[in-house]
Amino acid sequence: MRKKIVAGNWKMNMDLNEGYRLAESINNYFRQKPSTKAEVVLCPPFIHLAGVADILKDGNVFLGAQNCASEPSGAYTGEVSAVMIRSTGAQFVIIGHSERRTYYNEDNKTLLKKTIQALKAGLKVIFCCGEVIQERESGIHFDVVKRQLEEGLFSLSAEDFSRIVIAYEPVWAIGTGLTATPSQAQEMHKFIRDLVENKYGIGAAQDLTILYGGSCKPSNAREIFAEVDVDGGLIGGASLKKEDFIAIVEAV
Ligand code: PGA
Repeated sequence: MRKKIVAGNWKMNMDLNEGYRLAESINNYFRQKPSTKAEVVLCPPFIHLAGVADILKDGNVFLGAQNCASEPSGAYTGEVSAVMIRSTGAQFVIIGHSERRTYYNEDNKTLLKKTIQALKAGLKVIFCCGEVIQERESGIHFDVVKRQLEEGLFSLSAEDFSRIVIAYEPVWAIGTGLTATPSQAQEMHKFIRDLVENKYGIGAAQDLTILYGGSCKPSNAREIFAEVDVDGGLIGGASLKKEDFIAIVEAV
């Protein structure tokens, strides 16, 4: 059976001490009351990684980064490599978040390079895809997502692809309070699973974890996660509040 995952994407929030406190309280909660249905992943900013890895080392919460460099090492001022991320103890990295695509012009070609670096370093990749509102309104949202996956992922070998988690995040739902309806999420998740089946076969498609992201909160998580092709969530704003994040994990 495929894994369910709930990952918290802290984005550029929390100073070091605030981040440590949040990680500690989430870790303590799940140490006492392990989540049996979903793997829990925290994705803080880079500077938190090593310290949060230390906090999470006795517990069952996993750690991820929000981005990584497209090159392995060298003269790339300001960049953080996948190997560096892995060396902190992190197991995951988010690649292709819409904020990276939009504000830092990361295209599918760059995202494929990042994904290859991450996999080489031994990380699992949470690869984000999703359409903007104009694309949905003009009915090309399936084509947009298909292209993101084909160009960003589908040249990977089947073995590499088995370490990918896909997050469908309609850009119009991220941080806006608007959420895809459960049936809109299900429709796109099913579409994604079918694309993967065509490319990698039915086994890979059935094993693939597909997360929903975009204004997911305790009040709507349960009905979205109830859809058959939704295997958990990538949570932004609500992952900064311990109670909300825990409630979302428990909604799985
Ligand atoms: P949100 O963000 O939950 O704040 O909408 C989700 C994301 O960007 O991963």
